[in-house]
Parts: sequence; C-alpha cells; structure tokens
Amino acid sequence: MLHCEMMNIAFILLHMSLPISASLSLEKQDALNIMPLTKESAVKEKQLKKEVCDLWVGEWIPNTAKPAYTYNTCNLILPFENCVRNGRPDAGYLYWRWKPNSCDLPPIDPLKFLNEMRNKSFAFIGDSICHSLLSSLMCHLYKVAKVHDVYHDPSFTTRTWYYPSHNFTLYMISSLFLIHHETIDNHGDASQIHLNLHLDILDSKWTREYNKYDYVVISIGPHFFKSSIIYENNQVIGCHHCPHMNLKKFGIDELYRKALHLSLNFIAKSKHKTFAILKTWSPDHSEHGDLPTKIICNRTRPFREEEIQYNFGTIMRRVEIEEFEKAATIGAGNGVRMELLDTYHLSLLRPDGHPGPYGTYHPFDGDKKKKVKIDCMHWCLPGPIDTWNELLVKIVSSGDANDSVVPAFL
Ligand SMILES: *[C@@H]1O[C@H](CO)[C@@H](O)[C@H](O)[C@H]1NC(C)=O
Ligand SMILES: *[C@@H]1O[C@H](CO)[C@@H](O)[C@H](O)[C@H]1NC(C)=O
Ligand SMILES: *[C@@H]1O[C@H](CO)[C@@H](O)[C@H](O)[C@H]1NC(C)=O
Ligand SMILES: *[C@@H]1O[C@H](CO)[C@@H](O)[C@H](O)[C@H]1NC(C)=O
Repeated sequence: MLHCEMMNIAFILLHMSLPISASLSLEKQDALNIMPLTKESAVKEKQLKKEVCDLWVGEWIPNTAKPAYTYNTCNLILPFENCVRNGRPDAGYLYWRWKPNSCDLPPIDPLKFLNEMRNKSFAFIGDSICHSLLSSLMCHLYKVAKVHDVYHDPSFTTRTWYYPSHNFTLYMISSLFLIHHETIDNHGDASQIHLNLHLDILDSKWTREYNKYDYVVISIGPHFFKSSIIYENNQVIGCHHCPHMNLKKFGIDELYRKALHLSLNFIAKSKHKTFAILKTWSPDHSEHGDLPTKIICNRTRPFREEEIQYNFGTIMRRVEIEEFEKAATIGAGNGVRMELLDTYHLSLLRPDGHPGPYGTYHPFDGDKKKKVKIDCMHWCLPGPIDTWNELLVKIVSSGDANDSVVPAFL
C-alpha cells in the first residue's frame, strides 16, 4: 500500500482545491512518476479461457457511420458529457468503432434488446459514469419506444423509467461506494475529510429493493479517492487520504477491494438470482500541459497499443478482476450468473473521448481568461461509452444468441 500513501501525499501537497475529477487525474499522473512502469496485462489474462471471440481484445477502427443519436434526438445527455452541444470543435472522436480481433461487434439493435427485456427490470448501480452508461443506452432506445419517467429523487441521480410497450423497467441507483457512507459537510474545504465509510455495511440504496432487479450493472470507483474515516463494526479503524490524522492509513485499493468483496458476495450468495455485470475501471487520461499544474486531455485520436501511458486504473482493475473471479465462482454454485464488462483496456485506448473543457456550455465564450474546468474523467456522449453498451447488450443477449461470449471465469 506504500505507493498509495505516497500518492496521497503528493495529492495533498499539490491539488487540494481542485474538483474531484481534475484532482484525481493529477493523482494518477503523480503515480506515473513514483511507480515503476507496469505493462497492461488485459490481453494475457483472457487467454486462459477458450473463447470463440474475446470481445475485449481488438482495436479501434475508423467508422463512417454517424452516431446512433445526437443531443437533438435524445434529451437524456447530461450537461457535463454533452460535448457536441457544449461546443467541442473536433468531431473525429465520434467516428471510431471497436473491432474485436476475431469477430465483429454489432451495433445495438434497440428493438431486439427491448424484446429481450420484456417483463424485465434492469438496475444500473453506481456513480455518474454509470449514469452515462444508462443515458447512452436509453438514447439508443429513444427512437423505437416511448419511455415514462416514473420516479426521481431531488437530485435526479436516482431515477426510474418504464417502457410500457415492453413492460420494461430501468433503474438508475446512485450508490457511489456500494457500501454505507455518511457525507461530512466540510463547507467545500477539500483539505477536510469528506466522508465516513463503513466497510462492513452495504448501501441500502441498492440492497433495499434488490429483489426487484432481473439484471444489475455495477460501475463505481473514483469516489474512493476522497478522504475518509474508515469504520468497521461502527468503530473507527483508520482513514484514507488523511495525512494529519494519527490513524491507520488505508490505501484506495484496499478500500475498493473491501467494498467490492462485500457487494459481490451479497450478489453471489443471494436467494434472488439476478444476472449481475461488473464494469471495470474507467480510465482517466489527464496529462500535464505546458505548465505542471495545467491538466489537459486534448488528444483527438485513439492511442495505438504502444502509445498507452501508465494508468493507475490498472491496479484498480486488478482488484476488480480478483474480487470478481472469487465471487463469480460462488455465484455459479448458487445459480447466479455474473459477468465482467471489461471495458478498461479498450477505454484506455481512447484519450480522445473525454470532455476536457467541453463539460460546460461553450466554455471559451465571453471572458477568455476565465478558469475553465478540465474534465479528463467523464466521457463525451455520443462517444466511447456507446461501445460499452454494445458490449453490454452483447453480454446480456448472449443467453440466447450464444455465438461468441462464454461466461468469464467460470
Ligand atoms: C410478459 O408478461 C405477460 C403478462 O404476465 C405474459 O402474458 C407474457 O407472456 C410475458 N412475456 C414474456 C416474454 O415473458
Ligand atoms: C410485467 O412484468 C411483470 C414481471 O415479470 C409481470 O408480473 C407483469 O404481469 C407484467 N405486466 C404486463 C402488463 O405484462
Ligand atoms: C494539446 O495541448 C498541448 C499543450 O498545451 C499543445 O502543445 C498541443 O498542441 C495540444 N494538442 C492539440 C491536438 O490541440
Ligand atoms: C451454446 O453453444 C454450445 C456450443 O456450441 C451448445 O452446446 C449449447 O447448447 C448452446 N447453448 C444454447 C443455449 O444455445
């Protein structure tokens, strides 16, 4: 855990006042300088299994087809990801598709998907990137079916929609950690502790009505970078990102492992058998610009494999794989199907897919000197997340399609 603590210190020294999206990317950049280069091993790992097609190994190839939706045809794109509307000048990032080495990934057939979802419910559980995944999916369904807004909480981060034509219910459940937490109001002072995190209590936001969900997708991660006090058994056992506190220090990878372990075991051992899908870490691509303090992600093309730079997410994905494998084995014994939506590596190849400054509406209009927030963590919609959904639909549909996907790790 040494590296994590070192990162934390670098983080504290340099970037205390930045918003979480910007600051955590810097944290990763710092890791670049501290840690030895470790090669991405997504490819090797998957060779263990005999598969007709490994969906996760391939390349981004130019695509002439237009994206399936625009902000004019879908009003579910959230402001922070609405890059085209926000004035992003280059459009090249919209014209790539993921080509697995030994098969083709078909575009989403919205009607086919809805037919498969008849009488079903699907919960997306996680953070804002999880919400993007759901927005993208719903934008694909927009053209073919009416959807009713059934419920939203005051912040619109937990929502329910219903497709009457297919008796299909979609849930977005905002659960940033999957485990129970209490937010501490630190009046925007980022040097103060953000939250209490309970490693042994699940977040009831997603477990409360768990029996309702036929499918769940889980997508969390970056919020674990926040400074926190760690509890077990309602006792303080340590803290994370808390240099001045005389407590046992927990690394982000330890916290993430505990949260995943508890959550995935709950799913695997549950009497209620969902089809559960864990999406792997969403890589951030911030780089330093001309000034060491200036974060950028202004690339306009995907990377080739050899251009990939060290990314802290590789460590987090490793944690995900390990915890997933253990839980999926338990799930298999209990009749719970669990799959990995392993988008980490293919997303690592897409430094061009983030909003950068275009997470806000026409950021450079008016006052040219005003400080613009740079977002290298979220993704533009349309954009690479549409591919995550093509893969998700493929996994979910493979129950009857049975042409290429073999359950992972079983
Ligand atoms: C959906 O539910 C209705 C009403 O219970 C039933 O008639 C129909 O066969 C179901 N369809 C599928 C595909 O399960
Ligand atoms: C909708 O799906 C639910 C759950 O499968 C089922 O109980 C219900 O009968 C369905 N309703 C209609 C109108 O098909
Ligand atoms: C990205 O920003 C860097 C540093 O400001 C600059 O040197 C480079 O030309 C920019 N690249 C693009 C594609 O705009
Ligand atoms: C899937 O394919 C395998 C191997 O070709 C076959 O044995 C199996 O019966 C198929 N399963 C379904 C549900 O079609």
